[in-house]
Amino acid sequence: MKILVATEKPFAAVAVDGIRKEIEAAGHELVLLEKGTKDDFIKAVADVEGLIVRSDIVDTTILDAAKNLKVIVRAGAGVDSIDLEAAKQRGVCVMNTPGQNSNAVAELVFGMLVMLIRNNFNGKAGTELKGKTLGIHAYGQVGRNVARIAKGFGMEVSALDPFVTDEAMIADGIRPVHSVEELYSNNQYVSLHIPATAETKKSIGERLIDLLPENGVVINTARKEIIDEPSLVEALRKRTDVRYVADVKPDIADDIKAEFADRVFFTPKKMGAQTAEANINAGIAAAKQVVAFLKDGWNKYQVNK
Ligand code: 3PG
Repeated sequence: MKILVATEKPFAAVAVDGIRKEIEAAGHELVLLEKGTKDDFIKAVADVEGLIVRSDIVDTTILDAAKNLKVIVRAGAGVDSIDLEAAKQRGVCVMNTPGQNSNAVAELVFGMLVMLIRNNFNGKAGTELKGKTLGIHAYGQVGRNVARIAKGFGMEVSALDPFVTDEAMIADGIRPVHSVEELYSNNQYVSLHIPATAETKKSIGERLIDLLPENGVVINTARKEIIDEPSLVEALRKRTDVRYVADVKPDIADDIKAEFADRVFFTPKKMGAQTAEANINAGIAAAKQVVAFLKDGWNKYQVNK
């Protein structure tokens, strides 16, 4: 059978080699489409049984073109770029690869933070993370890695997540909090790890950002859609001490950059999961999951049941 790997942001070559080995060892054929257009994607998906993607958009146009498709694996966590319901209606199983790229994203949180609080290395005295408060908004796989690293920096860590028990957080040595108000009011640094869903889209704006203590910083390595962008602008105007850094560039990034200069930072392309290790982990896990599904319907990480 044919398995298409379609990535607008290609995996490291070493990860592609590993994916190829998994697919060919199972007797399947790898079709590789890197940085293709939507038309290329539509053509390439026409005769494949399996599909591996990253944040690539899989909508009804793609699904309708994919007449033989049985399984999609998102090599990563977020599945907001895939029309899950439409896939379900067409009998296509969608899975993700939980946890496989989360350390890479967590490490970037601190890469961006250190750069920010050392004033982009401009020679002026900056500040340190040790002893500062960090609030983790959603304690999933990335949030847990952020907590682990933050403790290494000597930060005081709290987290909010209605799906995680207080006991689990306390066992990890962090403080559970139970409302967004509590999270934003008591932490100088807030790191966002909520997925983009109907409930969370545009949920972060002036109301919460204005609660931050003095010199507050919001770090977003999750999704741009969770931010209410006009409201973020209002917050940055009102609170001239607050800063915003994101690995998920806002739609109005140029305007924000022009107005707030060094108080904001955006990576040019989403780089959180873009490490060789994360590509190998997520890519090979995805290949194994596609192969297992095509073999005997293995669907442990199905997200569209
Ligand atoms: C994820 O959801 O796994 C991360 O946001 C990484 O996404 P990417 O594979 O598009 O870099």
